[in-house]
Amino acid sequence: MELRKALLPIWVCVLLSLRLCLAEDVLAGDPLGGRFQHKAGIQLLSSSVLHTVSAGSFLQCSMHCLGVAQCKGANFRPSVDGSPGGDCDLLETQDGSYEISTTNSVAMRLPGSCRGLRNVQYRSDGVYRHRGLPAPLYCDMTLNTGGWTLLTAAVSNEGWTLDYVIERRRDTPGIDIDYSILGLGEQILGFSYRSTYKYRIEVSGRQRWGGIWKAPRRYTLTGSHSNQTEGVELFRAFDNWEPRVDYTPLNIVPWVNRGGAFEGGPLLTTCTEDGTQWFGTLVTAVVAESHGVSPWIRGNSEVNSGARLYWVREHNPW
Ligand SMILES: *[C@@H]1O[C@H](CO)[C@@H](O)[C@H](O)[C@H]1NC(C)=O
Repeated sequence: MELRKALLPIWVCVLLSLRLCLAEDVLAGDPLGGRFQHKAGIQLLSSSVLHTVSAGSFLQCSMHCLGVAQCKGANFRPSVDGSPGGDCDLLETQDGSYEISTTNSVAMRLPGSCRGLRNVQYRSDGVYRHRGLPAPLYCDMTLNTGGWTLLTAAVSNEGWTLDYVIERRRDTPGIDIDYSILGLGEQILGFSYRSTYKYRIEVSGRQRWGGIWKAPRRYTLTGSHSNQTEGVELFRAFDNWEPRVDYTPLNIVPWVNRGGAFEGGPLLTTCTEDGTQWFGTLVTAVVAESHGVSPWIRGNSEVNSGARLYWVREHNPW
């Protein structure tokens, strides 16, 4: 029985065509993290070509990439004279920029974020350790159409420092621990070449009390000021609240309070640094008991004093 089960895929392969099965083997190689995002008709631009090798097909080119530790992507360029196969450029970086190619080339890259993983068909929530990722990532693959990378989870106000806001427990991502990879945020957004991205904040429960914002990609996720506001829009609010100065989160990219505003209380916040209150705070060092994890919406802290999750989702890469 077990043997028959094991052999079944092979028979399906023989029936369908060997070529298709080889494709599956390469693209579905989960243990290696071997699934690539690929697209025909474009070439990734990269200043760091590791090697150029010859390859019989784009799949063979992707296998070459998997064989080289630093390889994060590749361009397969078919021979222009019509002979089989072509050149395979193995790339070390994948900053997302590309050009349209007239030579039927195929661009391939390892997913570098939860969105990228979702694009290659990974569909369950949880921690992913994939070869292309900058670190293990916690991915939400289901809510709000999925593809969200967890940057920061604050389930308590204990032990946070400015350093921990940038990185805390990087190797053990989770939504129920104090955790942050804010410092990797730029790299994650860099997997798309588009000019905007979205961020999502959930407070005291999934899909509660925060919202989804759209913001220009030119902003930094680790800025020290509350001035990254222009072009930031609340796309959707969870629960019933509206941005209001000194009362709620504002349409400000969460910033790191390195300058010591509010006597250093908020560490990562969406309040204005010259305001009088610091509601809209995600991570804090010190807090009044009644605000729980941190002050979020004035007047109803009894329902929004719990854990807060900060996610990003970049645009599709191409
Ligand atoms: C915000 O202020 C800082 C410090 O004055 C400045 O360096 C930065 O360019 C400003 N950013 C924006 C988006 O205005």
